[in-house]
Amino acid sequence: MSLLQKLQNLESQAQSDLSTVQNPEQFEQVKNKYLSRKGLLAELTSELKSVPSEEKPIVGKEANRIKNVLTALFEDKEKNFQKNSSHTNSLSEDVTMPSLIQPIGTLHPLTQITNEICQIFSRLGFTFADGPEMETEFYNFEALNIPANHPSRDAVDTFYLENGKLLRSQTSTVQIRVMQERKPPFKIIAPGKVYRPDATDATHSFMFHQIEGLMVDEKVSFADLKGVLLTFAKSLFGKDVTLQFRPHFFPFTEPSAEVDISCNFKTGSGMMIKSKTGWLEILGAGMVHPKVLTAAGINPKKYSGFAFGLGVERIAMLKYGIKDIRLFYENDIRFLNQFA
Ligand code: PHE
Repeated sequence: MSLLQKLQNLESQAQSDLSTVQNPEQFEQVKNKYLSRKGLLAELTSELKSVPSEEKPIVGKEANRIKNVLTALFEDKEKNFQKNSSHTNSLSEDVTMPSLIQPIGTLHPLTQITNEICQIFSRLGFTFADGPEMETEFYNFEALNIPANHPSRDAVDTFYLENGKLLRSQTSTVQIRVMQERKPPFKIIAPGKVYRPDATDATHSFMFHQIEGLMVDEKVSFADLKGVLLTFAKSLFGKDVTLQFRPHFFPFTEPSAEVDISCNFKTGSGMMIKSKTGWLEILGAGMVHPKVLTAAGINPKKYSGFAFGLGVERIAMLKYGIKDIRLFYENDIRFLNQFA
């Protein structure tokens, strides 16, 4: 067979081999077989020197043509592979771009502080209780010794619903539910939302969160209340904190007090909290009124108890040095990120 024929056979052989190629690996193999420096085409071309000189121009020209044709065919095929492959980086994909970062959410600061407070009381033996946000007048007022003519029962101070119920204005409702359901002794805390038709400003919101506490047993005294609350305040704000009990009035406790913390402490961000008097109110508390025990079916001659209710937003604002209550509800990511 003449070299010319061999070259032409090689051309058609290479074309048919190339047409069966399925993947980049096979492509490389076939390309090497024909077009590499030691490939079949190079081998045949090297035989040119033994061709009679009058045939050389024709055979040489044909060898060149075949080389160009095959090179173009292989290039085409290679481009096809790059286009179809999703694994290789095409030029349109900028590999220097930063990767997509999936942001990880965090617990809302109010959830964090609620958890922290509940953990402190749980270490003191308090268990968790819950009650509905849509309540009856009985649980929100009557059973709590709040008479029908009390100003807090006015529609300007309570959200009344069309079904005759209301949105609870305090978590003290849970006191009654727990006393009805359980036999003393018990110690519970009840966190949750409460609602009051207050105009919204930096310190007021129509909805906020409270944590109620209640302990009922034989011989529970005001000293027990003070001990529990002081332990709580030191755990949350630091061991240097002290408490002040100011006489106050709540219809459902007797005696009643408003409780302040000494405010020479540092917030989470290191800011010092100060007030003109040196005290800041954090909760209301007192000994459960005998009428309330009776209304809930507990004998006040045998049992006594204390109760307290604290505002979660207020505590969080003190602890973290937050100036505006509305920040809690706006869900501005720049605010929330600070509690990550
Ligand atoms: N329920 C009262 C309030 O919302 C707080 C409180 C709870 C006071 C329990 C005494 C005992 O202001």
